[in-house]
Amino acid sequence: MSRSQWGSKLGFILASAGSAVGLGAIWKFPYVTATNGGGAFLLIFLAITFTMGFALLLAEFAIGRAVASGAVGAFRALGNRRWSAIGYIGVLCCFLILSFYSVVGGWTIGYLVRALDGRVMTSDSQALGSLFGSYVGNPVEPLITHGIFALLTLLVVMSGVQKGIERAGKVLMPGLFILMLVLIARSLTLPHAIDGVMAFFAPDFTKVNPGMLVDAMGLAFFHLSVGAGCMLAYGSYLDRQTSLTQVGAWVTGLSTVTAVLAGLMIFPAVVSFGLNPAAGPGLTYMTMPVVFTRLPFGQLFAVAFFALLLLAALMSAVSLLEQLVVLPIDEWKLPRKPVTVGVTLLIFLMGIPASLSFGPWASYTFHGKTVFQLMDYASSNVLLPLGGIGTALFAGWKIWPLMAGELALPRAIEPALKWTYRVAAPCLIALIMLYNL
Ligand code: PFF
Repeated sequence: MSRSQWGSKLGFILASAGSAVGLGAIWKFPYVTATNGGGAFLLIFLAITFTMGFALLLAEFAIGRAVASGAVGAFRALGNRRWSAIGYIGVLCCFLILSFYSVVGGWTIGYLVRALDGRVMTSDSQALGSLFGSYVGNPVEPLITHGIFALLTLLVVMSGVQKGIERAGKVLMPGLFILMLVLIARSLTLPHAIDGVMAFFAPDFTKVNPGMLVDAMGLAFFHLSVGAGCMLAYGSYLDRQTSLTQVGAWVTGLSTVTAVLAGLMIFPAVVSFGLNPAAGPGLTYMTMPVVFTRLPFGQLFAVAFFALLLLAALMSAVSLLEQLVVLPIDEWKLPRKPVTVGVTLLIFLMGIPASLSFGPWASYTFHGKTVFQLMDYASSNVLLPLGGIGTALFAGWKIWPLMAGELALPRAIEPALKWTYRVAAPCLIALIMLYNL
């Protein structure tokens, strides 16, 4: 059976950038960077993104295109049954990520409603803190928005690759960039904005520690969607003429620019209004309103912001769900619709404890981490790096000639990349993980 292909190269770039650009850049990147003290963390994050992250992205695209199947099938077809374990790690990881991702995606719906009715339009930091706290801490509403988000993801995935994902990418990306630029312009002209810019960019290397390195690596992989086989699944729909390095560079560039823009949008406002940079997962939601209140037609910007964030989150969620449904469809030949519905239901159930851990279950912790934090940590800081090690070893040792052919690199670069996959990337990832232990 022939698989459908992407309508155009641009469509593919936008769709895979759509997987990468999402809550990771706009929700997670700012607060993890802020909690880790800014500048130095940013540098390490960028270094990992453009070396290991980029290399792993290329490997996933290449493996996916070479076999045109889901992650598990691809590792088995090119390797053997044992290698397919990497695919299963990816699937487990996507499952964990999507469960809490859908909860946070739901928050954008909750905030979209609050932008529409004007509740979000205040710059009083206490009011913003309690707006966020009372919403996510409520046992019911965030579960409803989580359910709506999961349902929306389901609808896009059921409609198939071309129609749903590609069309959304073409509208979303340009819209998101333009809006962010306007918001940055306002944020940067707030009083004392420059101190925020400094906090974001100026590196303080005394803050570097093992936990920070793992956070930077986990965030880099999470933000590029690598290590879980999602980009592999996308690559499997890609035609042979397209240059993987070119597409990979675009995707890495676009998503990293988005993250840096998000930092420029949030850090100046945090500092200017004396908000708490260590606010954690609520940072973006608590900070952006102060920027909206300082803009003409601010409420309109608020609505546009949360609507676009919702779309961006949806596109990433779609790539996660796609990866989860491809397994039963390709492996066990199950029909697409019931599989998609079943998996979405499971995701919804798994998301419930994650959501409740911001409210009634906040006191249930393990090693000081709530359920939400555990799911986030296990997926970003453990499973994605493990998937990364597996993918790199596979690309470097098992299928190097095929990789070289797929990537069509100049001879001079080939050995460098080969040894990045074989030794440098796996060792570095393992070292960072061990160092943290
Ligand atoms: N990269 C997405 C984001 O930054 O929002 C999240 C994500 C999607 C992570 C797909 C991992 C993944 F496999």
